[in-house]
Amino acid sequence: MASASPLLEMTAITKRFGGVRALDEVDFAIDPGEVVALVGENGAGKSTLIKVITGIHPPEGGSIRYRGKPVEVRSRRESQQLGIEVLYQELSLVGVMNAYQNVFLGKELTKRYLGFIELLDNERMRLEAERILLEQLGMDFRGRWEPIFLMSGGQQQAIALARAIYAEASLVILDEPMASLGVEEVERTIAIIQRLRESRVAVIVISHNLEHIFAVADRLVVLRRGRKVGDVPKDRITPEEAIALMVGRLEEKIVTPGTVPAPPREEPRRGDRRSESR
Ligand SMILES: Nc1ncnc2c1ncn2[C@@H]1O[C@H](COP(=O)(O)OP(=O)(O)OP(=O)(O)O)[C@@H](O)[C@H]1O
Ligand SMILES: [Mg+2]
Repeated sequence: MASASPLLEMTAITKRFGGVRALDEVDFAIDPGEVVALVGENGAGKSTLIKVITGIHPPEGGSIRYRGKPVEVRSRRESQQLGIEVLYQELSLVGVMNAYQNVFLGKELTKRYLGFIELLDNERMRLEAERILLEQLGMDFRGRWEPIFLMSGGQQQAIALARAIYAEASLVILDEPMASLGVEEVERTIAIIQRLRESRVAVIVISHNLEHIFAVADRLVVLRRGRKVGDVPKDRITPEEAIALMVGRLEEKIVTPGTVPAPPREEPRRGDRRSESR
């Protein structure tokens, strides 16, 4: 059930590096509130696709629509203006700053002193950052002033996500977000992704861990040597099939080209969906 207008729609995206076709006519779309896992072996083109979306590598061929309008994304700045936030494993946080300073980095709140001197409004930033972390991400940072390099990977990730929320991102891209996290932190990250989905934010997750992918994604998109060979709702594919697509034992499985389903209702009816897919 594809919606009339996806949030992001990329059509026939091509990108070469010298003789290497990093992306070969790739179609990719995502709806608001959808979580899509981007998977594939090393060198399949995942990071390149993300770099096209974020304007770091403008494509040589193909077209991009955002909220239904044709766009050219030529720089990170332009993608940020569209509402696209990327969280790399090496988060773009500043270790010596504390949580709230990082949430507002580059978008600091200010107040006026004597009517004309602009000062940082530290108190308002702290309260606002604490509110986002608590209400949106369920993490209590009240009274935590320590620099974030002293915090765990999962806590740092929450801060980066709070930043994305503050920036009112419509699309959040996570590149290997759970690679070096402990069990509890992985669970927390999964919960955060679910909250983003509930707020109708679209999420693209790159991961090599199929267990994490199946825990969090609505749909899997599989790249192999620059080509999209899989585009399947999660409940219509098994981990074994996903691997077969990645390595080429299974040629192709495109169940719904373009976009698929809206976020889950209260209770997913797994049984029903399985039987209808056979
Ligand atoms: N800046 C670049 N210059 C030259 N070749 C590149 C560049 N970036 C990527 N490539 C090549 O493009 C192809 C796709 O690379 P990409 O980084 O997108 O793969 P990936 O799916 O992200 O892999 P990984 O899982 O290892 O991160 C590879 O063959 C890679 O060597
Ligand atoms: Mg990569």
